[in-house]
Amino acid sequence: MTETAIYVEGLAKRFGEVVALDGIDFAVPAGTVFGLLGPNGAGKTTAVRVLATVIPPDRGRAEVLGHDVRRAAEAVRYRIGLAGQNAAVDPNLTGRENLRLIGRLTQLPSRTIEVRATEILGRFGLADAADRPVRTYSGGMRRRLDVGAALVHRPPVLFLDEPTTGLDPEGRNELWSVIRELVADGTTVLLTTQYLEEADRLADRIVVIDKGRVIADDTPAALKSRLGSTVTELGIGSEEEAARAASLVVGVPESRSESDGPILRITSQDAAKVLIEVLRTLDANGITPTTLSVRQPSLDDVFLALTGKHVEEEPPADRREMAKAGAR
Ligand SMILES: Nc1ncnc2c1ncn2[C@@H]1O[C@H](COP(=O)(O)OP(=O)(O)O)[C@@H](O)[C@H]1O
Ligand SMILES: [Mg+2]
Repeated sequence: MTETAIYVEGLAKRFGEVVALDGIDFAVPAGTVFGLLGPNGAGKTTAVRVLATVIPPDRGRAEVLGHDVRRAAEAVRYRIGLAGQNAAVDPNLTGRENLRLIGRLTQLPSRTIEVRATEILGRFGLADAADRPVRTYSGGMRRRLDVGAALVHRPPVLFLDEPTTGLDPEGRNELWSVIRELVADGTTVLLTTQYLEEADRLADRIVVIDKGRVIADDTPAALKSRLGSTVTELGIGSEEEAARAASLVVGVPESRSESDGPILRITSQDAAKVLIEVLRTLDANGITPTTLSVRQPSLDDVFLALTGKHVEEEPPADRREMAKAGAR
């Protein structure tokens, strides 16, 4: 039987008038990666903070490896690592000094700290930069150190809150491989993200949350088959023309079409095949697209497929969050 590493049931949290979590449920089997996907303001960080015992829930249950976040907060803290959106490392210390500091805070013997620090620096591709101040690191290196810092005490469960937001594709790729390695070693990872691609690449299971509620709980494959793996967008002269185009191609098999302003958007598993038929149909009806773009589905496409609506984003919470962190 697989152990449940993280268990959440009916979890709710509000901040004054704002309902951040409105009764969410999910369970994460040990040794898997769980993706919490949602736009800004969906409640991802709140869920992580509750699970990491930073803030108490108003209602519901939250357990980490069988320990209740309220009644057994100490036991939970001992078993988790947390790397947040804003890097927690000190830019004026070297990478190694940062890890030492964390090790001392977690009261590990200094011999153990030295061994772990060297091990983490090596594993995260930071060995060469180990004795340089962190302010000289790239964004990707800082983020890797931040994840490394959460691992000094070897927690079996790791929370990563938007670990790759703001990283360039290279930094993102490097962090992804670090996360994969951790999981290969048996660590359970809960990561939050706004990128469907990230959840798809890393997670065994994805929960999509919107305004504090779960709107989908599925494997990446199942989620994508509900969604289609490719989004093709054709620019059509006008809004009316695009609406007409959508109604003409609505019957093309294995595809979903909709107009969005002057854009005809087609979601499908086999874009090449579907596109030929779409273009034939449009051509036969005297419609010639002016632009064409093909891309992978985004979080917004997930929302369109699940709710029929676009993502309603809050402005990025970074600034407010920093102010809050300062006040805590
Ligand atoms: N400490 C707080 N005080 C007031 N409102 C908060 C606080 N933390 C989060 N919120 C609000 O709760 C909602 C969920 O926020 P959050 O969990 O940070 O979402 P996400 O991480 O998905 O962007 C948002 O509307 C946010 O503004
Ligand atoms: Mg957040």
